[in-house]
Amino acid sequence: MNLLGIEGMNRDDVLEFLELADQFVDEDGRPVTPKEYRTALDGESVALMFFEPSTRTRVSFELAIQRLGAYPVVMVSESSSMVKGESIRDTCQNLESMGVAGFVIRHPERGLPYSLADKVNACIFNAGNGTGEHPTQALLDVFTLRKHFGRNDLEGLNVAIVGDIIHSRVARSDVHALRALGATPILAGPPHFMPKPEDKWDAEIAATRSQALEAADAVIMLRIQRERMVKDVDMDEYVRDWGVDDSVVEGEMRQTAPIMHPGPVIRGVELSSSVADGARSLILKQAGNGVAVRQAVLLNCIRENA
Ligand code: CP
Repeated sequence: MNLLGIEGMNRDDVLEFLELADQFVDEDGRPVTPKEYRTALDGESVALMFFEPSTRTRVSFELAIQRLGAYPVVMVSESSSMVKGESIRDTCQNLESMGVAGFVIRHPERGLPYSLADKVNACIFNAGNGTGEHPTQALLDVFTLRKHFGRNDLEGLNVAIVGDIIHSRVARSDVHALRALGATPILAGPPHFMPKPEDKWDAEIAATRSQALEAADAVIMLRIQRERMVKDVDMDEYVRDWGVDDSVVEGEMRQTAPIMHPGPVIRGVELSSSVADGARSLILKQAGNGVAVRQAVLLNCIRENA
């Protein structure tokens, strides 16, 4: 079994991962691995292959692998035979022949995890494929919302996603995960960062920041993906119209709505420091929950493949 994207998953598919992830946080939300899971993947190894920078996804996958008793194999492309011209496919097939049970892959090419999934029997975990999907981020986002609201699903909640939507694989996966659990995603951002109608995102659209925030039970802010842009933006204008600081929280948001962000946060752009560090921020909870969610994903997929 692979985890390539959230698109196509239904409520039960998503909840299966989240309910298993519930085992890996205690009642105060702290990470915990119950004794029966500490050797659940004993003897297995999982390769981490990151062709784009990462902090949260790479480290939380590595911790998740270790906490289940498996062994992480960290591939550094610059010192592997890929620099001699070996393809990723050949690299994965060779590692699979050594017994590697899964590949966690982040790569700028959208199609890569899908084509690899056709070529290897080991599990492929998409850790971000260009502007495509970031399925484990979406699972940890809905996991965090579910914990915050103390509910099993997100039925009836409005969740605003604000910023650089079109370049964001997080937004794409979040929309599918939110819909699967009954929430309504509301997208907002400058026109050049918004999807076109023909892109057919399954979400409501808000014309302004205040329109999105006033309707939202929770808000997910996004970073500008400069690495995927062809044209630069006027930062002062962006911060004024789309950034969230204390005055925006007070003036435009519902009174108890939490603020989320997948990270990395660019302080002073999409969020002021006071908001990123403030009482409504779930940002560090998201990062912590990433380990629990990835433990669940690894366990479900690798066990099913065994
Ligand atoms: N949210 C996220 O994917 O963060 P990293 O790029 O640090 O992994």
